[in-house]
Amino acid sequence: MKITVIGAGNVGYHLSQRLKEVGHTIVQIFSRQTNKVIRISRIIGANPIDNLSSLNPGADLYILAVKDDAIATVAEKIKKRIPATSWVVHTSGSTPSTVLEPYFENYGVFYPLQTFSMNRLADFLNIPILIDANKELMKNRLQELAETVSSKIYLINDEQRAKIHVTAVVVNNFTNYLYTMAEDILQQEELPMEVLIPLIQETSKKVSLYPAKEMQTGPAQRGDKKTIKRHLEFLEKYPNYQKIYEVLSKGIEEMKK
Ligand SMILES: NC(=O)c1ccc[n+]([C@@H]2O[C@H](COP(=O)([O-])OP(=O)(O)OC[C@H]3O[C@@H](n4cnc5c(N)ncnc54)[C@H](OP(=O)(O)O)[C@@H]3O)[C@@H](O)[C@H]2O)c1
Repeated sequence: MKITVIGAGNVGYHLSQRLKEVGHTIVQIFSRQTNKVIRISRIIGANPIDNLSSLNPGADLYILAVKDDAIATVAEKIKKRIPATSWVVHTSGSTPSTVLEPYFENYGVFYPLQTFSMNRLADFLNIPILIDANKELMKNRLQELAETVSSKIYLINDEQRAKIHVTAVVVNNFTNYLYTMAEDILQQEELPMEVLIPLIQETSKKVSLYPAKEMQTGPAQRGDKKTIKRHLEFLEKYPNYQKIYEVLSKGIEEMKK
């Protein structure tokens, strides 16, 4: 396909690279930052644009990989440059596809369910792609496109995707916050974070093999009240972390009932 990617952040960059790698043509790529878009465009062999007024009609698909709050604004801007019949998708997990409805007749979502960072390689073959479109033909074409990118494709509507996104925040953003919490405590106590790495790895391995609930261990699971008390006493000097420890321990205790 001939694809134009609007947005050259974490998703715009990695997705463009993958699309090029599997044989699609990135016609244009947009970022407001001239130097950044020129650098990225060289890697993916696209025409860089730093102004949406330079956007060309004629691409088979326009991918809006901009921050959630900018999707509608960008759609409104680009509708002046390309026909209303153009195929336009965004890459957001939490934003409904219908945010594009006022601007385009054919719209959808192409959501890669993974955490992307600029300096990390993305293993696209194993990244679930959640797709949706308002027309059957577009849905089929998006599915074909997604199949060139990944081996895990899901046809998921707006409502389902919103629910999945909530749980994605829990397993990714919240666990990462908990890692940060551990990192901070260990740093302040002058102890190495590396002692926890095998534990982190084993916990995430287990969840891909067994139900998470069955794999729950620890003082709250066992009902070791004295241990919990000692932990809470230690955490008195970290009041925010103490609150989180308490809430999560209660959650684990409730789950057992
Ligand atoms: N990061 C993830 O792990 C992840 C995973 C799946 C889906 N997503 C979704 O993918 C989308 C992009 O996320 P991201 O992580 O790639 O974000 P990001 O790294 O912050 O990049 C956002 C891009 O949006 C552009 N942008 C922001 N505001 C804009 C505006 N007002 N007008 C035009 N362009 C604007 C930025 O432009 P400049 O380059 O000009 O600054 C940048 O290129 C979001 O919808 C997000 O929910 C993210």
